[in-house]
Amino acid sequence: MVKERGNFNSRFTAIMAMAGSAIGLGNIWRFPYMVGQNGGAAFILVYLFSAIFLCIPIFLAESIIGKRTHLSTFGAMDKLAPGTRWKWMGFLTVFTPLIILSYYSVVGGWSIEYFLKSLTLSFSDPAVGMEEHSAVFGRFISSAWTPLVFHTVFLLINAVVIVFGVRGGIERFTKLTTPVLFVLIVLIMLYSVNLPGAKAGIDYLIHPDFSKLTGSALLSAMGQAFFSLSLGVGCILTYASYLKSDEDLLATGFFTAIFDLLFAIIAGFAIMPAVFAAGIEPGAGPGLIFETLPFIFSTMGADAPWLCDVVSILFFLTILFAALTSSISMLEVGVAYLVDQRKMSRTRATILLFAGCWALGVLCSLSFGPLKDVHVFGMTIFDACDHLTSDFLMTFGSLLFVFFVGWKMKKADVRDEFTNGGSLRLNRKVFNVVYFFIRYVAPAAIIVIFISNLLM
Ligand code: PHE
Repeated sequence: MVKERGNFNSRFTAIMAMAGSAIGLGNIWRFPYMVGQNGGAAFILVYLFSAIFLCIPIFLAESIIGKRTHLSTFGAMDKLAPGTRWKWMGFLTVFTPLIILSYYSVVGGWSIEYFLKSLTLSFSDPAVGMEEHSAVFGRFISSAWTPLVFHTVFLLINAVVIVFGVRGGIERFTKLTTPVLFVLIVLIMLYSVNLPGAKAGIDYLIHPDFSKLTGSALLSAMGQAFFSLSLGVGCILTYASYLKSDEDLLATGFFTAIFDLLFAIIAGFAIMPAVFAAGIEPGAGPGLIFETLPFIFSTMGADAPWLCDVVSILFFLTILFAALTSSISMLEVGVAYLVDQRKMSRTRATILLFAGCWALGVLCSLSFGPLKDVHVFGMTIFDACDHLTSDFLMTFGSLLFVFFVGWKMKKADVRDEFTNGGSLRLNRKVFNVVYFFIRYVAPAAIIVIFISNLLM
């Protein structure tokens, strides 16, 4: 069975694939602006805390289900709880990543456009002001055609990688791009922290301002940690189903989480010092990377235009790669379901889901322009897809997975899977603590987050 489905060749490639899924627009686009809006270092502390105590247990719960069954969400739940309704819960999680992919690929498309722009050296003109950059971005996303073309191209790249399978596609792609992402972001950070005036940005990231840490900032930090580790949507479960049976789940989970956290923090240090150096307010919001940063590049362009061109090319390439390594994991959840359960060929499954995500993505993309007055629950289609998934479906999915492992599966089976039949010493030692977090702490915390999101 495992052989037919494919698997990851080594621990290194498995971690690169999982870390690739985790590291994405969430780290470079969402994290820095949320830090900026919610009190800098204080937000980062809550984020770290929830990643370690809440997200790692959820991550482990998902990977226990995946590796135990070597099946995707629906089949895995069905195998572990046969004859129950759990499989339909698993089925639900097939849709969440596809909805995320639909709007994510719109932003992925924007990053292609901006990468191409950086290649034509369009950001080094110091005469172009902030308003102009915002106007250019506003015109671009609200136009009908160009964003759609790039949305399509972005999704097509995903489809091609997925068609090549677990080893030939996902593994081959992520074992190269994930390490490259780290090199790129470190280079950008080194540049950024050495800019004149960068110190204020560094201080902002290391001195917590707890007065800004409101209830909603706390919730955002936790939600961001979920989003960043790709939890609750079956991506980690599906990737874990491609692990070899003797793989160490604690090690893969630990390194994936560490790489993701590290990347988010380095991205913060790559962006905030530059924002402060250019004299801009840190709470710029979602437009940060497409409006503020091009402006920052152009202010730097006055002194060293070539350096500014190089940094802007590297920066938009980083965003594009980061988006791609995440989006392929979203598409894989649905493809794995169709291949495992419906016995469809990989190619057919990919084409089918490509079409579905493309269509919903078109609506999301147009919701910045021609469809901007179409509202769902009082939001544009793009915002509705984002909120529905990150505030509800992801938390709900996470609850489902921890609940399943903590309360539905037999403790002996969970221990067996986590310790590989008792053969991993460290895992044996920490098992009781991990199990306690999966069974009690994580579900309680998720329920609080879920209800608070409902009330907000
Ligand atoms: N973790 C990804 C990011 O940080 C987003 C993601 C969400 C990926 C859900 C897969 C599933 O951008």
